Amino acid sequence: MSDPIRFYYRGAVQAVTDAPPTRTVLQHLREELHCTGTKEGCAEGDCGACTVVIGDLQDGQVGFKTVNSCIQLLPTLDGKALFTVEDLKQSDDALHPVQQAMVECHGSQCGFCTPGFVMSLWGLYLKNEGKAGHPQRKEIDDALSGNLCRCTGYRPIIEAAERMCDLPKVGMDRDAVAKPLQDLQRTETFTYSHDGQTFYAPRTIAQLVQVRSDNPDACILAGSTDVGLWVTKQMRELGNIIYLGRVAELKSMSEQNGMLEIGAGVTLDDAYAAVCRHYPSELSEMRQRFASLPIRNAGTLGGNVANGSPIGDSMPWMIALGSEIILHGAAGRRTMPLENFYLDYQKKDLRPDEFVEAVRVPLPRKNARFRTYKLAKRFDQDISAVCAAFCITLDGNIVRDARIAFGGMAATPKRAAKAEASLNGQPWNEAAMKQAMTLLAQDYAPLTDMRASGAYRMKTAQNLLHRFWLETRSDAPLSAAAVNAFACL
Ligand SMILES: Cc1cc2nc3c(=O)[nH]c(=O)nc-3n(C[C@H](O)[C@H](O)[C@H](O)COP(=O)(O)OP(=O)(O)OC[C@H]3O[C@@H](n4cnc5c(N)ncnc54)[C@H](O)[C@@H]3O)c2cc1C
Ligand code: FES
Ligand code: FES
Repeated sequence: MSDPIRFYYRGAVQAVTDAPPTRTVLQHLREELHCTGTKEGCAEGDCGACTVVIGDLQDGQVGFKTVNSCIQLLPTLDGKALFTVEDLKQSDDALHPVQQAMVECHGSQCGFCTPGFVMSLWGLYLKNEGKAGHPQRKEIDDALSGNLCRCTGYRPIIEAAERMCDLPKVGMDRDAVAKPLQDLQRTETFTYSHDGQTFYAPRTIAQLVQVRSDNPDACILAGSTDVGLWVTKQMRELGNIIYLGRVAELKSMSEQNGMLEIGAGVTLDDAYAAVCRHYPSELSEMRQRFASLPIRNAGTLGGNVANGSPIGDSMPWMIALGSEIILHGAAGRRTMPLENFYLDYQKKDLRPDEFVEAVRVPLPRKNARFRTYKLAKRFDQDISAVCAAFCITLDGNIVRDARIAFGGMAATPKRAAKAEASLNGQPWNEAAMKQAMTLLAQDYAPLTDMRASGAYRMKTAQNLLHRFWLETRSDAPLSAAAVNAFACL
């Protein structure tokens, strides 16, 4: 029997029984509910015109997050609340302070991007509810990192982000959302079928193991920031779908035996926040430059690792640190070093009944030096041409354990075996670093594509190793800022 998709929208519970499981939230809003405030620009998570806010229960409280409705599949809304620009209308028809601020600061011209910006700003407004003053500029930039405007420019919109906090406050009645959501929660696997296709959303690991072994051909869906594009851009048929977003155990994080264990369902933003607490100077820029906030709110670290794109950003630094992956299937769990998971282009050591349950990231170790660098054409919201990560453990000034991993240099995220071997046992000096730079040409034969030429990739990979040495050499360590200045000469 098929369950209806039930979610809370505009003060009422919506029940959907007749939509294909791959119908996007945006399509449903515009074509079924005729709420056309939310726009479609790119249909691939890049422009933010479709930004909505999702409310979900966490430990009995409702949390609110911006996501791109163009790549979220409708059944993933089951048990959640959906908010769009239509929700901002006040009972007396007045504008919400976020909208009023956009008007006062001249934050809109053609207006196509405006509902998306307004929803991103509303997400920030909700996050700052109860706090005095304006959000920091960095917070504003992060909140707007997934919204593109092609006519107004960003300064008036950034001003609106400050101005909205000066206007009379409009509070959110969180209890009024929590109550219906509590009633919508399920304990058993949500099973939604339409036209021969079934969408499963198990609640527990045990249910997930069962559903997975019963449906080894089904498509696993986590945050939908890769899979959503298969639907909207490649028009791929997904068949049956197993959604991980309701499995509570997959959302946990814990620290034990010197490792931070991150469940496969933890969002990218939460996962990066946790690793950045341990590696603030090394990983904060990567967090900021990984996609945009709405993508990080939806996407998971487990999805990044499971997809294993050769140009994905998390694998190089995770491999350089010595991270492990935990797989779970009908026969139980198995754990392996992350690099062993990647067999060939889009080929992984994952059995048909298995899923990624968690990853384990080593916590900082004494005498280890670690950096990761992302090279892309834009600072924000861009895919890497080259992503590099280096970690060495020093005994005095002798390299004892060199781990170098790159994205964008091979068919998989891959370690630089020859360069690493040449460094081990050597003093961490310029000669050893230069020798390793040369050997990178034997470790990798990068491709030329639209992001970069093979020659550019090799040159920059070698230069990033040089930069790592400049930043971590023991005699006269340079700060990252000094290295940047040096690089600009
Ligand atoms: C606009 C935009 C910008 C992006 N920017 C970046 C970027 O800067 N850096 C970057 O690395 N990536 C980027 N991505 C790619 C994407 O966001 C990441 O790969 C993300 O981590 C995928 O996670 P997800 O939860 O959305 O996975 P999904 O899309 O749900 O799934 C991805 C793949 O992994 C599989 N899968 C997911 N979870 C599991 C699991 N637990 N077990 C087994 N299989 C699983 C799915 O079957 C699918 O094959 C971007 C994407 C978009 C749309
Ligand atoms: S339409 Fe562009 S991000 Fe969704
Ligand atoms: S106001 Fe026209 S794209 Fe932003």
